Amino acid sequence: MTTNLAAAELVARSNRLGADPKNTNYAGGNTSAKGTEIDSVTGEPVELLWVKGSGGDLGTLTESGLAVLRLDRLRALVNVYPGLDREDEMVAAFDYTLHGKGGAAPSIDTAMHALVEADHVDHLHPDSGIAIATAADGEDLTTAIFGDRVTWVPWRRPGFQLGLDIAAIRDASPEAIGCILGGHGITAWGETSDEAEKNSLWIIDTAAAYIVANSKTEPFGAELSGFGALAPAERRAKAAALAPTIRGLVSTDMVRVGHFTDAPEVLDFLSRVEHPRLAALGTSCPDHFLRTKVKPLLLDLPAESSVEDSIARLHELHIAYRTEYQAYYDRNATPDSPAIRGADPLIVLVPGVGMFSYGANKQTARVAGEFYVNAINVMRGAEGLSTYAPIDEAEKFRIEYWALEEAKLARMPKPKPLATRIALVTGAASGIGKAIATRLAAEGACVVIADLDLSKAQAAAAEIGNTDVAVGVQTNVTDEAQVQAAVDATVLAFGGLDLVVNNAGLSLSKSLLETTVADWDLQHDVMAKGSFLVSRAGARVLIDQKLGGDIVYISSKNSIFAGPNNIAYSAAKADQAHQVRLLAAELGEHGVKVNGINPDGVVRGSGIFAGGWGAKRAAVYGVAEEDLGKYYAGRTLLKHEVLPENVANAVFVLCSADLSHTTGLHIPVDAGVAAAFLR
Ligand SMILES: NC(=O)c1ccc[n+]([C@@H]2O[C@H](COP(=O)([O-])OP(=O)(O)OC[C@H]3O[C@@H](n4cnc5c(N)ncnc54)[C@H](O)[C@@H]3O)[C@@H](O)[C@H]2O)c1
Ligand SMILES: [Zn+2]
Repeated sequence: MTTNLAAAELVARSNRLGADPKNTNYAGGNTSAKGTEIDSVTGEPVELLWVKGSGGDLGTLTESGLAVLRLDRLRALVNVYPGLDREDEMVAAFDYTLHGKGGAAPSIDTAMHALVEADHVDHLHPDSGIAIATAADGEDLTTAIFGDRVTWVPWRRPGFQLGLDIAAIRDASPEAIGCILGGHGITAWGETSDEAEKNSLWIIDTAAAYIVANSKTEPFGAELSGFGALAPAERRAKAAALAPTIRGLVSTDMVRVGHFTDAPEVLDFLSRVEHPRLAALGTSCPDHFLRTKVKPLLLDLPAESSVEDSIARLHELHIAYRTEYQAYYDRNATPDSPAIRGADPLIVLVPGVGMFSYGANKQTARVAGEFYVNAINVMRGAEGLSTYAPIDEAEKFRIEYWALEEAKLARMPKPKPLATRIALVTGAASGIGKAIATRLAAEGACVVIADLDLSKAQAAAAEIGNTDVAVGVQTNVTDEAQVQAAVDATVLAFGGLDLVVNNAGLSLSKSLLETTVADWDLQHDVMAKGSFLVSRAGARVLIDQKLGGDIVYISSKNSIFAGPNNIAYSAAKADQAHQVRLLAAELGEHGVKVNGINPDGVVRGSGIFAGGWGAKRAAVYGVAEEDLGKYYAGRTLLKHEVLPENVANAVFVLCSADLSHTTGLHIPVDAGVAAAFLR
């Protein structure tokens, strides 16, 4: 079946609107078009509604993200609507209006799109529109800004009744092109797709221009002495120092991944006198509550406060937040409310430094932060013209603990085994390390790839996924400062660190008499000293977080096995192997497991083998270099060639819940080499 023109226009318009963040927040808002198609059953024309389905984002909407519904049946729902108290039942009724397979799941806003008498309807969450929608005198402002072209609709929770209200307004005011939805956003319509888009943009831009022209100069008040932004390097260092503790606190009920931003809007908000009052008021747009919780945790100390003082105060504020949140839940919950979803904050504001936001994965954490920046923009607009007046607490609670939202959460796929875990893998631009990073990411972890060459590290990360999944950083593990920078980059990228993999290494096959002091030092620097530095910097984070964690060493069969031409490499590997036992003994009290893997003969994909080691090993064994993999396989008990993925599998198993009671262990991944048996 060819794409209906109305649907094609709708997707194009939605993508244009969603591409500009001034028009709507991520995954916020929805759009629709009405049109006619020939019904395959009757051969007669049938009127249809295409509307963005539940959950998707306008910017990346495709036709498969649209619900396709029959308008005659949608309109007939008005006759069976049981009233406001039971409006949620109408969502299930949408299933009886589907056309064909129906496309994506219809969202709660479907009624508004179906019932408004216009062929094209946009419902959006623009900061400028929400600023008017949350201003204390929003109704008067709407008249002052838009005259009779835009109508004020008092706050009502999204649903069937709101659809009926807006349809009635549309019928009663033919001159209107849209409305401001109190506490929430905007809706606009048009007879053509272009007209709807033009009307949406006119409302958004007119509101924004009015705010610019009429706002008081400093909506957030005067500068608060001592609360100005720290210098960029200083605030990132402080953010990195605070991040592990904050992640540990916000993970009290369930482990979270984090996102950090020091965007100018955030730093400016936190530097001004009105920020404590406004932060306490919380956000307003219905999209926000699940992502940002009802309000943020605000550190009430000046920018220059020490890390120690900040941490002490954060502990106190976290306890207070949890008590207050529990009280909010208890005040508002009814017997049929869903259970409390943890009492920890999802947004943490640190004056002078920036904002941490949290979620079940990096994307969710990042979007929560974006939403709070939206909220700051909204508060600035509303305070500039009037007073910011979000919807009241009971309504916020009804949205946050809405049975329909709970059902959506219940439908989410089961998290992957390493979801919420954050990994740092050294030497992961190549070979075994890259295979480890790839496997950990496939199991749900966020990964940081640290390697000597930034562009190679970033290229390996890009092969694994976008920056919500994997990032590359430049690090020479022999350099204390660079190692600290890699750990800081990890906690700033993902909020913390759980899995440290010491994989960086190199190998020079030389006899005792040929081995220079430089050969010895290089291999000991990278493998023995390098993994000490990485473990030390990583362990500081693991200890501060109080969430346990894993440190894994990629040692070698050669840490056990004695053979010729290997003095410096094998001695360095034996050093690493003993670090495993020493640190397992030392870090157990923090719940940190430390284990190692002894691979052998991983020729394929290995830079070590390609870079000369392979040729030398082949010479030692008297075989052709290209046959080395086969040669190694032939001398194993299982007669298998060992691949980087086999080592990666073992790292995953060590970090998975199944080996939760194992520390101080080395796992051979060598296809069976009796001379390297551990006991
Ligand atoms: N290939 C094998 O058969 C085998 C066997 C046993 C152990 N190992 C160990 O596995 C690890 C990975 O080896 P591979 O075979 O994948 O080799 P590889 O050369 O493909 O990968 C090693 C990576 O480490 C990086 N690296 C080297 N020095 C570094 C430094 N100072 N700082 C940061 N990164 C650095 C390199 O740039 C490279 O990307 C090494 O520790 C190696 O000793 C390999
Ligand atoms: Zn909305």
